[in-house]
Amino acid sequence: MAAAALARESNPADPRLIVPLDVPTAEEARALVARIGEAVSFYKVGLELFATDGMALARELKRGGKQVFLDWKLHDIPTTVQRAAAALSGSGCDFLTVHGEPQVMAAAVKGRGASGLKILAVTVLTSLTDQDLTEMGYAEGARALVERRIRQAIAAGCDGVVASPHEAALARTLGGPEFLVVTPGVRPDWSARNDQARASTPAEALNAGASHIVCGRPITAAEDPHAAALRVAAEMAQA
Ligand code: C5P
Repeated sequence: MAAAALARESNPADPRLIVPLDVPTAEEARALVARIGEAVSFYKVGLELFATDGMALARELKRGGKQVFLDWKLHDIPTTVQRAAAALSGSGCDFLTVHGEPQVMAAAVKGRGASGLKILAVTVLTSLTDQDLTEMGYAEGARALVERRIRQAIAAGCDGVVASPHEAALARTLGGPEFLVVTPGVRPDWSARNDQARASTPAEALNAGASHIVCGRPITAAEDPHAAALRVAAEMAQA
């Protein structure tokens, strides 16, 4: 049997599937990871866990052979962002998010240096409407600002962006084949929408150009998270 097929057999996880650990404590996160088992190889650790034991948990996941996405959306003066990215680059973690402002993105890329830490830009938070942007002093609406920031992320040397499935095609076109396009807002047909109003299915997101999907509650809130993760991975394989 070929090496790739052997690896798939011993580890059925699709490396393009990222599950967010949106729980308040490291104990709950560990329990969730244990229930999901070998069905998922990539986890997102966000601000909620960051506020408690996030970094310790991230290192633990890395020791356990998982990939780790630090979704901390850094936003500060360049020196601070550069130093934070440099400090995090020693953790062995895989993805780190920063806000999509040119100074911030360039500083993060400089800070991670030659490490394997990939820098992803958050272009425009999906919670912001055109009206919010006007109130904040921006002259253009969300769609135009997303495009501007994707271009600026590429110019700053970022490895990719976080984009809704609806922006994935634009990010793929602008960024080219190697660019990372990580899309939350993914819902299989068989799961509840929750608060994701404009969700796409896993296959739709991948077909639109996503390199990775973030899919949380359809897996984490399922009665059997392991089975739900395998079901999502099977759908991804059909894309
Ligand atoms: O459970 P669900 O699949 O909705 O989780 C999606 C994850 O992606 C959450 O961690 C959420 O914070 C994050 N996210 C999102 N929408 C964005 C950006 C990030 O849902 N626009």
